[in-house]
Amino acid sequence: MSRKSKLYEGKAKILYEGPEPGTIIQYFKDDATAFNNQKHATLAGKGVLNNHISEFIFTQLGKIGVPNHFIRRLSMREQLIKGVEIIPLEVIIRNIAAGSICKRLGIDEGTALPRPLVEFCYKADELGDPVVSEDHILTFGWANEYELEDIVSLALRINDYMSGLMAGIGITLVDFKLEFGRLYEGDDYMTVLADEISPDSCRLWDNKTGEKMDKDRFRRDLGGEIEAYSEVARRLGVLPSADVADLDNHRKRK
Ligand code: TMP
Ligand code: ASP
Repeated sequence: MSRKSKLYEGKAKILYEGPEPGTIIQYFKDDATAFNNQKHATLAGKGVLNNHISEFIFTQLGKIGVPNHFIRRLSMREQLIKGVEIIPLEVIIRNIAAGSICKRLGIDEGTALPRPLVEFCYKADELGDPVVSEDHILTFGWANEYELEDIVSLALRINDYMSGLMAGIGITLVDFKLEFGRLYEGDDYMTVLADEISPDSCRLWDNKTGEKMDKDRFRRDLGGEIEAYSEVARRLGVLPSADVADLDNHRKRK
């Protein structure tokens, strides 16, 4: 594509101005970061896989009535999305204890939670995205009570859908992170799902082997990230065929 102006560059994605007003091009990079950028690597093919996996999940969520920013995939690494004002929260839904909650609350990894737990982190890299309560969110005006109500009910519906989707392909959805935005239409606006849903933003455990099929492979130096992400894409039926060759070539070169 002819390069449009860059609006924002994040750790794993770049946003470019879209072809029509109100649209944005979301470009998926191969970069992986963890622990607030202290760890960084390039995983060849990750952007292509996440673009396809996220396209599939957002499309399916759209079909069950979860409003979201996705319009269509444009290429191997790019998708067209609606421009939204991002609400500065990371919304985390947990079914099984893993990661930061184990450290914070002294829970063993793998403990099934009696009900899905919704947590909020304030999106501020310089503060390390601290966990915050609904009261913090309302007090500091990061979202209002109507938005919070929408966010929690959408997050729980997404969790129901995603848990079933993953169960059907032999994967346990341990936890995941969502971001929401305000989609303006005239003077009105609605809360919609934004960002991406991919193995970068979920914990996915293989039901048979217990193997991690997500970014924890990178965070914990387990290796095999691309193989795991490819396997998730393959089971979802969205493995980009042209890229299988690319990924194979990459493996040969290593
Ligand atoms: P945590 O256990 O580190 O809090 O992560 C919970 C889930 O949220 C896990 O699936 C990874 C995802 N996540 C992100 O996508 N981005 C982030 O910046 C963080 C901290 C977690
Ligand atoms: N994505 C976050 C970072 O770059 C944290 C993580 O996913 O572990 O620090």
